[in-house]
Amino acid sequence: MMHDRFNEYYEGLRVHAEETIKSFLPENNGLQKTVINAMNYSMLSGGKRLRPILMYESWQLSGGTDEKIISPFIAAIEMIHTYSLVHDDLPAIDNDMYRRGRKTAHVIYGAGMATLAGDGLLNYAFETALKASGHGHDDRVISALKVLALKAGIYGVVGGQCVDIENENSEEVNDEVIDFVNELKTACMIESSLMIGAILAGADSEYIHRLEYAGSCLGKAFQIRDDILNVTGNENELGKSIGNDSDRGKRNYVSLHGLNDAQAKVTELTSRAVQIFNEIYRLRNIDYAFLSELAERMTTRRK
Ligand code: IPE
Ligand code: IPE
Ligand code: MG
Ligand code: MG
Repeated sequence: MMHDRFNEYYEGLRVHAEETIKSFLPENNGLQKTVINAMNYSMLSGGKRLRPILMYESWQLSGGTDEKIISPFIAAIEMIHTYSLVHDDLPAIDNDMYRRGRKTAHVIYGAGMATLAGDGLLNYAFETALKASGHGHDDRVISALKVLALKAGIYGVVGGQCVDIENENSEEVNDEVIDFVNELKTACMIESSLMIGAILAGADSEYIHRLEYAGSCLGKAFQIRDDILNVTGNENELGKSIGNDSDRGKRNYVSLHGLNDAQAKVTELTSRAVQIFNEIYRLRNIDYAFLSELAERMTTRRK
C-alpha cells in the first residue's frame, strides 16, 4: 500500500518537473545553435530530477500557491545541477565518457563546446529564475535568487569541486575535508532546492533554516551513497561509469572508511533529515511525509 502511494506520488512530481523543465529550455536556433544543442542534449538526457522534486514538494508542503513563481526556479535548479555535471565530466576534471545513460557532452560536442554549454546553462539558469519576478512576490524571488546564487558558487558547488579535485591522490585528506567537500559540492544544491521551495511559499527564516539543515544531512548522505555506488553499482542502472573514483585516486568517505562504515553514515545522516521532515509535516498537518520516505529510500538507491 505504502509502496504504491510513494511511487504514484513520486511519479507525479517527476513528470511535473520534466514538463516544467522542458517548457523553459532555449530553442535550438541562431548561429550559436551548437551550444544550445549541447545544453539541451544534457538537459534532456533523463536525470532523476531529484532537486526539482525536492523544491516542488518543499513549496507545496510550505503552502505555496502561485506556480508562476516556482516553475522558473524548478527549471533553474536543474540547469545549474546539469551544468555542474557537464563540467564535472570534462577531461580536465573527472574525464567521464558516460552520464545519464548517454555519452557525455564533451564526447559528443568536444571539450570546448561542452565547457560553453556548462557556462550557458549556468547563466541561463539565472535568466530563467528571473522570470519569476513581476508576479507580486519580488521580495521572495530576490531571497530565492540569493540562495540559488550562493549555493552554486565559491561557497557552494564551485568551492567543493575545487577541494575535491585538489585532493586527488592526497594523503592529507581527513574526515573534516571530506565533510567540507560533500557539504559544498553536493549538499548545497539539495539545501538550495528545499530552501527555495519554502522561501517562495513565504515561510519564515527559522523554518527555512531547519530545511537547510535537513538538506545538508540528506545531501551528504546522497554523496556518500554516490561514492558507494561508484564501487558497488551497476553501470547500466546508474547510467555512468563505475570504478573511476579509485582509478583517479579520489579520496572520499568510502576510500577512508570502507563500504560498511560508509553505508552506516548514510543511514545516520538520513535519519537526522527524516526527523526534521517528520516534524515539519506534523507542523503543517500533512499526513503523508513524502520527503521522509524519499530520504529513506535514497539510502539504498541503485541509481
Ligand atoms: C549526480 O547527481 C551528482 C552528485 C551530486 C552525486 P544525481 O545522482 O542527482 O544525478 P542525475 O541528475 O540523476 O543524473
Ligand atoms: C558530484 O561529483 C558533484 C558535482 C557534480 C558538483 P562526483 O564527481 O562525485 O559525481 P559523479 O559520480 O560524477 O556523478
Ligand atoms: Mg567529480
Ligand atoms: Mg564525477
